[in-house]
Amino acid sequence: MDIQKLEQLHEGKAKKVYKTNDPDLYWIEYKDDATAFDGKKKGTIMNKGILNNRISIHFFNLLEDKGIVTHLVNQVNDREQIVKAVDIIMVEVVVRNIAAGSLSKRIGLPEGTMLPKTVLEFYYKDDALGDPLINDYHIAVLDLATPGQIKAMSEMALKINDILRDYLKDKKIDLIDFKLEFGTHKGEVILADEISPDTCRFWDMETREKLDKDRFRRDMGNVEEAYREVLRRLTGETL
Ligand code: TMP
Repeated sequence: MDIQKLEQLHEGKAKKVYKTNDPDLYWIEYKDDATAFDGKKKGTIMNKGILNNRISIHFFNLLEDKGIVTHLVNQVNDREQIVKAVDIIMVEVVVRNIAAGSLSKRIGLPEGTMLPKTVLEFYYKDDALGDPLINDYHIAVLDLATPGQIKAMSEMALKINDILRDYLKDKKIDLIDFKLEFGTHKGEVILADEISPDTCRFWDMETREKLDKDRFRRDMGNVEEAYREVLRRLTGETL
């Protein structure tokens, strides 16, 4: 069946989601819009939609090859991809290897401190509340996910961390931390959303230069260049 893009279902900060003529599939469009601090800071990163579409597809293909079930079906064009229709679990799963960002603020470890063990966190995906940090008890009280789903998300997140960390080592990139979102598709918990410089902290292994959205959040300049550099290191492609 030829997949057709139908009406828009949802517009997020970085992507739009459309229905298709197949109820099991969604059509995703990546935008150049960039936001930070729960949408309080707004801007555009030129070509971000194209870069993140390519980068995320690259990572999702890698993860699929290593046995992680993801929503990715195929790329349509520069900015668009077809994915399995999921119900998003309203929990953001963050994995951290090195202290940075909100962890450094919360527990006082300076940015760049190697964590003696991997840290796994959950955040309630709710902009109005500022995506607060939550734990298993809060998830149960809010009925955001079942214990089985929390276990599946946690195990997948840690496995994804191992795969990405190893892979990025060869690209001379340190994986500082990253955020994942999961959804259910036909009853199964699968990886959804994206993996890109919007959702990860990537530092050049030698220079410690930031190659991610912190350049936008912190007004550091050369944001698009950093995203391009990530794509180049991953795929050899330039835009
Ligand atoms: P944090 O240190 O600000 O909590 O961010 C942890 C990781 O999660 C970092 O790699 C950036 C990513 N992230 C998102 O993808 N979306 C968000 O809204 C936030 C706050 C962080």
